[in-house]
Formats: sequence, structure tokens, C-alpha cells
Amino acid sequence: MPLTHTRELFAKALKGKYALGAFNVNNMELLQAIVEACEEEKAPVMLQISKGARDYANPVYLKKLIEAAVSTTTIPIAVHLDHGDSFELCKQCIDEGFTSVMIDASHEPWEKNVEVTRRVVEYAHKHNCVVESELGHLVGAQFDDGEEGGNYSTGGHYTHPEEAVQFVRESGCDSLAVAIGNSHGAYKFKGEQHLDLERLKAIKKALMDAGLGDYPLVLHGASSVPKEIAQKINQYGGTMGEDTAGVPEADIEIARRVGCTKVNIDTDLRMAMTAAIREVFVTKPKEFDPRKYLAPARKAVKELVRHKIKNVLCSAGHAFD
Ligand code: G3H
Ligand code: 13P
Ligand code: ZN
Repeated sequence: MPLTHTRELFAKALKGKYALGAFNVNNMELLQAIVEACEEEKAPVMLQISKGARDYANPVYLKKLIEAAVSTTTIPIAVHLDHGDSFELCKQCIDEGFTSVMIDASHEPWEKNVEVTRRVVEYAHKHNCVVESELGHLVGAQFDDGEEGGNYSTGGHYTHPEEAVQFVRESGCDSLAVAIGNSHGAYKFKGEQHLDLERLKAIKKALMDAGLGDYPLVLHGASSVPKEIAQKINQYGGTMGEDTAGVPEADIEIARRVGCTKVNIDTDLRMAMTAAIREVFVTKPKEFDPRKYLAPARKAVKELVRHKIKNVLCSAGHAFD
């Protein structure tokens, strides 16, 4: 079975009101874990590859691994460039057959972000590819700019609803990654903090009111950083801080219902893998066959992905809609 286009997966997810899991792939075990879980739960899936993954594993190896996964499963799979940092990298991935790319120029001034996104969009659309771009800064909830005079402040870290509309119109991007208190990694929040879900609703509504339809939004930094996994890592010799914190799964559930169509998860997979490997190293110190620790690591990632697609993203069961 060939790759399924990101456009098609988005259209079905919007219609079915579920979110696509976009899981980061860096090696064979992660890929197998993600695809096996999605196959067993009949979930469509987006595999995403970062620049770091390409540097680590070699783009040719990743392409061949994904070809192997696609040829041994029946579920719909799309392949996406995560956090492309230049037109050239996006072009390479488009030329390699990725079904979508992200151009991330969110750290640049508005004009530059629009300009590079436009350029990627023009090339992508000529080559049957769609583009995700980002507006705002993923700085976490502690940097909430608050509100000005009852309205959302403009030009701040968080995505402003009207600016989102203007950005989509000017850049022509096909989906938009938003900043609503989300951030990458295992230390997202301080204490009891949450995503700004009211702002997310306002962004979705502004896009709808502007005639852009049921426009797909993307949530980066969506790992929930489970405490029990952090504890297991520490139990077996790791030193993850006390202050690990992720997005509560209840927040992701609401984000999904409000209209986050693609939900990016990487850190949780890394942690599940690390905890399982550490456990083998500590409980079986004589073991030196990599398969003896990579197999439990793969299983742990698989169960985590299964949980996400069944209980949080609700994409399970939708592979053949
Ligand atoms: O958002 C970033 C992803 O977790 C990928 O991370 O650039 O270390 O591969 P990476
Ligand atoms: P996490 O660090 O929360 O897993 O976010 C992953 C991500 O956004 C990849 O683009
Ligand atoms: Zn991200």
C-alpha cells in the first residue's frame, strides 16, 4: 500500500472529529512500535521526521524503513517533515515524496515568516504536498502574555486569533501550529498550569468566521510526560527532575474536540523507551544483547502509542473510514 496523503488524513480527521497522532520516528524500533500499535487499533497515523532524525539515522535509511512499514501494513500512513528550518530542507523532503512538510519560521519577524512559508507553499503545492506553518512561540504556560483590555494581546508569544487568520491568508499554509501555552520537552509547566483552551476556541472560530472553513490546527508539545514513567526512569538510575510536567491528557481531549487535528508527541515516546532500557540495564546487568533491551523498549512505546490513539486522540478505529 502506498503512503496516504496528509490532505486526505486531515479531511477525514476533521469530519470524524478525532486527532491524528503525529509521532516522531528516529529509528526502527520507534517506527515498528508506532505502526504496530496503530495497525492493531486500526488508526490512521502521521510519521514525522525532524532534521535531527535525518542527521541521526540518514534520510535514505528512514525512507526505506518507512517503505518497509507501509508495505507490511494496511493502515493509512502519511509522512511529514517536523520543524523544517529552511526552504531547502522542505524542498528536499517534498522531492523525496513526503506528503507534508512543516516550515517553522515562527522565531522570525512576521514578514519573514510569511515570506518563507509562502515560498514553501508555492513549491509544495506544485508537487502534491501540503504545508504546516507556525505562528507564535512555544514558550510554555509560564510566559502567558495575558490579555489587554479584555482582548488577546497582539504580537506576543501566544497565537492571536485575528493574526492567525491574517497569517493563513497571507502565507497560504494548509495547517497552522498554534502557541497556547504548549512547549516541547519534559518540563512544560510550573505547578498546576494548563493550555489556554479558550484562546484555541477563539482561533478556530476566527478562522471559521473568516471563511477559511474547518481549518486544521496543530498542537506541538503535546506529550503528557507521565509521572510514573519519570519515576521509573529515576528508579533505575535516571535523574529526571521533580519538576517534570506535561500537558494533562484532559487538555488534549478538549483541544481535539475544539479542532486540533494533528497532535505531536515525541517526548513521551523517548521517556517510555528510556525507562524500559534502564530497567533492563539495572535488573539484568549481565545482559549485553541489544535485542534484550530494545524489544522491551519497543513494547513500552507501542503500549504508550496504543493508549494515546485509543483514549486521548480517539483516532483508533478510524483507519478505514
Ligand atoms: O519538536 C521537536 C521534536 O521533539 C523533535 O526533536 O529535533 O530532537 O529530533 P529533535
Ligand atoms: P513533545 O516534546 O511534547 O513530545 O512535542 C513533540 C513535538 O512537538 C514534535 O514536533
Ligand atoms: Zn514540535
